[in-house]
Amino acid sequence: MRRNVRWRSSSFAMSEVPRNPGAAQKKSLSVALFGSHQERRKTVAEAMAARPGVRVREFDALPDRSEIPTLAQQFNILVLDVDSDPDQVLALAERMVAEGRAYVMVFSANANMKLALRFMRAGVREFFTLPLDATEVGAALARAVEHRSAAVNAPEKTTGKVFVFLGTKGGCGVTTLASNFALALAQESEQPTLLVDFGLPLGDVAINLGMKAEYSVATALQDADRLDANFLNTLVAKYESGLEVLAAPDQFPVPPFTQEAVDKLTAVALQHYEYVVVDAGSRVDLLGGALFERAAIIYLIAQVGISELRNAHRMISHYFAGRGQNLQIVLNRYTPKALLFDDAQIAKTLTRPAQWKIPDDWASARRTRNTATPMVMVDSPLAETIRDMARSAAGLNSDREGRHGLFRLLR
Ligand SMILES: Nc1ncnc2c1ncn2[C@@H]1O[C@H](COP(=O)(O)OP(=O)(O)O)[C@@H](O)[C@H]1O
Ligand SMILES: [Mg+2]
Repeated sequence: MRRNVRWRSSSFAMSEVPRNPGAAQKKSLSVALFGSHQERRKTVAEAMAARPGVRVREFDALPDRSEIPTLAQQFNILVLDVDSDPDQVLALAERMVAEGRAYVMVFSANANMKLALRFMRAGVREFFTLPLDATEVGAALARAVEHRSAAVNAPEKTTGKVFVFLGTKGGCGVTTLASNFALALAQESEQPTLLVDFGLPLGDVAINLGMKAEYSVATALQDADRLDANFLNTLVAKYESGLEVLAAPDQFPVPPFTQEAVDKLTAVALQHYEYVVVDAGSRVDLLGGALFERAAIIYLIAQVGISELRNAHRMISHYFAGRGQNLQIVLNRYTPKALLFDDAQIAKTLTRPAQWKIPDDWASARRTRNTATPMVMVDSPLAETIRDMARSAAGLNSDREGRHGLFRLLR
């Protein structure tokens, strides 16, 4: 459930926080201060607001993870009270740091070196211990100002990566693979990830993840002119592990949209998310624009059958002849023994070998249908392969004994 941050304006807050802090006076800083301990929060707010040009807004609870992108956009500095629950605060701080734009500071009543080190390693800029030293706070805010002017002059955030899933035929598994890949990618990389369902009309990404979405990709495409990161943020449904979903519309008729609208959506999504995963269904008409131009990898999903392989061959020679380097072929529901074709024949037909073979897993598919548990959440060879795809896409090693590997072994 979404929960809005409860906020309380500090008596030191000077005026409304600017919507666009970058446009504000160069040396002014807007600070959001989170903590349930009123006294401690006040001390820090007071020390910060005493500096010229600093506006502080106090929040009497920790923020929800889903609120972090918006907070990072609205405030120059995010400050957290560590002591209520250090592990939870550390996880929040990590998520804030991942937002790129956020400058994160924390405070604690314990001068605990080990704890401070954990926060600094997570990318937190300042770890204050109480009682506060006013000179230290002043110096920290000066560093934040300096950092901000450097950031303002620096080039835009290097944009994220797009991964497109495209099918050779309806029912070949695009939605299954795209949604499980997106979840695995968000979990393995711990980066903000958006899954966009272009399986118009009536795409079923949301059903696959067992969620209900209020808005859809159709809203974004229809209103593409006013689409920006804030607007997009109101349209997505939050799943878990940093995965957010822009679902397909669940009603007919789907209003027509332009290629420019798709391009705009892609560009806005890339400013905001590290990874954008697209369920393109079998819509080759989307192949012309930015979505495919900017795709880091296009996964072409095929099952091993005569008509699927023939379609795959046609699509590869028509669309990917000169730009095959970012195309990866995925054979879904692959069962070596029952095959009509061997690997060499498949590679010959497709002019290249398949990179990924996803096993046929009837039991997992049934569990997803019955309980809406995504396939990658339960240990299986299928889950293992999709996690390997995600780790490889995120440039992580495929060490199966890693964090999640260990987790899987314990189940
Ligand atoms: N590897 C697999 N093993 C077993 N069933 C699968 C597998 N991949 C997909 N399915 C099942 O095939 C059906 C169609 O998959 P879906 O992902 O909706 O295809 P598409 O989006 O390409 O139309 C679904 O019922 C799904 O559960
Ligand atoms: Mg589909």
